[in-house]
Amino acid sequence: HGTSRINDANHLEIGGCDVTELKAEYGTPLYIVDEQLVRRRCREYMEAFTASGLGFQVAYASKAFSVMAMCRLADEEGLSLDVVSDGELYTALQAGFPAERIHFHGNNKTPDEIEMAIDAGIGCFVADNLVELHMLQAIALRKEVTVNILLRVTPGVEAHAHHAYASTGQTDSKFGFDIGNGAAQEAVKLASAQSNLQLLGVHSHIGSQIFETEGFELAVERIAEFTRKVKEELGVEFPVVNLGGGFGIRYVEGDTPLQVSEYVAAITGAVKKHFTGISEKLPQIWVEPGRSIVGDAGTTLYTVGTNKEIPGVRKYVAVDGGMTDNPRPALYESKYEALLANRAAEPNEETVSIAGKCCESGDMLIWDVELPKVESGDLLAVACTGAYNYSMASNYNRIRRPAVVFVQNGQSDLVVRRESHQDIIANDIIPARIAKQTV
Ligand code: LLP
Repeated sequence: HGTSRINDANHLEIGGCDVTELKAEYGTPLYIVDEQLVRRRCREYMEAFTASGLGFQVAYASKAFSVMAMCRLADEEGLSLDVVSDGELYTALQAGFPAERIHFHGNNKTPDEIEMAIDAGIGCFVADNLVELHMLQAIALRKEVTVNILLRVTPGVEAHAHHAYASTGQTDSKFGFDIGNGAAQEAVKLASAQSNLQLLGVHSHIGSQIFETEGFELAVERIAEFTRKVKEELGVEFPVVNLGGGFGIRYVEGDTPLQVSEYVAAITGAVKKHFTGISEKLPQIWVEPGRSIVGDAGTTLYTVGTNKEIPGVRKYVAVDGGMTDNPRPALYESKYEALLANRAAEPNEETVSIAGKCCESGDMLIWDVELPKVESGDLLAVACTGAYNYSMASNYNRIRRPAVVFVQNGQSDLVVRRESHQDIIANDIIPARIAKQTV
């Protein structure tokens, strides 16, 4: 997919760059991002919403992959940005992302984060709970500003996410105000009575890696009912409805995501159906795709090291990364596909399991994948690692985080340099009390 192909040398090529050359230049493990595919996904969202005729914002959920170059790219493509921490906000601001198109999420924003975001002039807070509402009002009052907010609500929709940890729209969730038990309506009453809060509307996010449209349509319907009720009973109108992210992608055969345009058409269709007649104008629709913008554009390149064959049981093939650069298989039992990137046209000959290099048995990237005969020094490419890989990477075992390159038109650009040994100890301090005495 994207700009990937197998070239005449039987090497995997992405964005016109031969991965064996990328290995020579940057080393492995290496995250490779197909820039054109990221841009294409951004444009699919922008074009589908433009076609709907509704007012909209597409906010890239930067948690999927937050680095300065990615923020620049999202800005260039006209997207807004969803951030959930001071770190993501700082990254966006340092990249020059326009503050007015930044939305701040999270169920436990600290006073410092709120101040930082207000001072930067961000476009909107997605307020999650009562404590936060009071905090937002108090800080905005002190700073003599008005801040835009959306209220995060749980519409009681349980979408078919890939893992229970990734579904969020149900009543028993740490996020947001429940529509069903009256909490959301109370929050609307409270928020609209605050002198320094401008309530723009509501937000819901029903889960992640969702393959059907029904969950989104049901969320729209519930939010429309809620909107009608709030207008009738409180006289409050919502100019904005944010439906979150969660649009699925294809990781492995058997995954059946829809096209971006199909998700958007279902959502905008449901909005037209359920919101018509509530207010004079239909609300603006905001969405927050993360995975579906960057997921399939990312590939991780590893070098094969050791192996262990247990006769009649299994062959383990170890690569130079693992759960430190991709914790998803260990965390969610996520499945991935792999390709022998330096002998990509050779027929498959053996079934192997791909192990990482961390000191724990759970550090497995793929169980039972068919590959040509794998040798030490081969290059293994794991596909669809653009989302929630670099952003969830760790230094467990003090393994250095890999570099990230953008590739396009035969050119590669480093966007995150590989961590150094010095980086690993950069924050360490040995108290003088126990320091080694040097004379
Ligand atoms: N908006 C909100 C409020 C969210 O919580 C999320 C994801 C998104 C948007 C973006 O969702 P996406 O379009 O990427 O599905 N670490 C997990 C996924 C957790 C997603 C958390 N929230 C994983 O690796 O699958």
